[in-house]
Amino acid sequence: MDTPNELNEVVLPQTVTGPLTRAAIFLVLCIRQDEDAYARVRTFCAGLSGLIRAVEFRDIEAGLTCVAGFGSDAWDKLFGAPRPAELHPFQEIRSGERHAVSTPGDILFHIRAKRMDLCFELAMQIMDSIGDVVTVADEVHGFRYFDDRDVMGFVDGTENPRGDAARDAAIVGVEDPAFAGGSYVIVQKYLHDLKAWNALPVEMQERIIGRRKLSDVELSDADKPAYAHNALTNIEENGRQLQILRDNMPFGRPGHGEFGTYFIGYSRTPRITEIMLQNMFVGRPPGNYDRLLDFSRPATGTLFFVPTATFLDNVPADTPDIAESADAPLTETSSPVPAKDTSLKIGSLKGEKDE
Ligand code: HEM
Repeated sequence: MDTPNELNEVVLPQTVTGPLTRAAIFLVLCIRQDEDAYARVRTFCAGLSGLIRAVEFRDIEAGLTCVAGFGSDAWDKLFGAPRPAELHPFQEIRSGERHAVSTPGDILFHIRAKRMDLCFELAMQIMDSIGDVVTVADEVHGFRYFDDRDVMGFVDGTENPRGDAARDAAIVGVEDPAFAGGSYVIVQKYLHDLKAWNALPVEMQERIIGRRKLSDVELSDADKPAYAHNALTNIEENGRQLQILRDNMPFGRPGHGEFGTYFIGYSRTPRITEIMLQNMFVGRPPGNYDRLLDFSRPATGTLFFVPTATFLDNVPADTPDIAESADAPLTETSSPVPAKDTSLKIGSLKGEKDE
């Protein structure tokens, strides 16, 4: 999908709305805090789409995609101003026993494909190319479980928006013209107490999720408690449902008793995901919290902005002049990066799978 930005240039989004896949790698990196490191990452950014194409083309049917997002602090140091209107660090939430932690992360790579070996190869190439200027904050290899279920046994992803609705939910539009085509993404790595969960009667599990376990059919309003997960994450404003685009993945190490869900939610504004998290952790009304959290705790929590592929392709190597550009009005010359000639349709192979 191509999106015109504020100057009516055609910009190519990253593959945020790419299809759900059998395999994924979630890689969160922190950049060493010196100018050499930031310069290296800027050069890396400009070469990323080429790297993705090189690995993707080794099995074009496998649908390899990679989305790169950047944390709030790293954004200023890497790209300067202007900055995406709603980019900020992930806000932790504490309520009772529940704690949505905020953990470090400068860059997120969300790598997806039908085959794990392609994800693995791209992760390897990324680490090789970005070099020793980063440390790894977190790395999770996710897999698609039976019937698209999470490890708690429920089908996960059913009510995700699709097609135009997915783009409308996930991709920034006219509200932030300089960053139209981008997206905000929040990730949380949840660990489950599966023994305790599996000891619950299935009917209770179904009330907590708000859907039938075997059939995945939604509970009727009469059967669904106000604390059900799909009640608390259902947000309406002016009679309209506000949605996010999720691509959660199970992960784990049975030998270590580790069972998890990697939550990833894209949205055109982080506010929607943040309201869902408030409802889950604090409750709506306060105290009516998500019982899923009695059996699951997030070990990480980070917010990133995903610029367009066009933006990344055009990242200059030099240091951004933050002070000067921060005050500058948004004019043609203060556009984040000039969109280069898109007639080559760089990244269009990714774009095709974007539908
Ligand atoms: C422990 C981690 C989580 C698990 C295992 C989980 C699992 C599920 C399941 C099984 C469903 C029902 C099927 C579906 O529509 O996808 C669901 C729905 C949903 N979840 Fe989660 N989820 C988790 C965390 C989150 C978080 C952190 C958010 C948002 C901040 C979220 C947002 C949603 C939304 C928006 C829906 C659809 C609600 C609707 O029916 O409209 N989930 N989740």
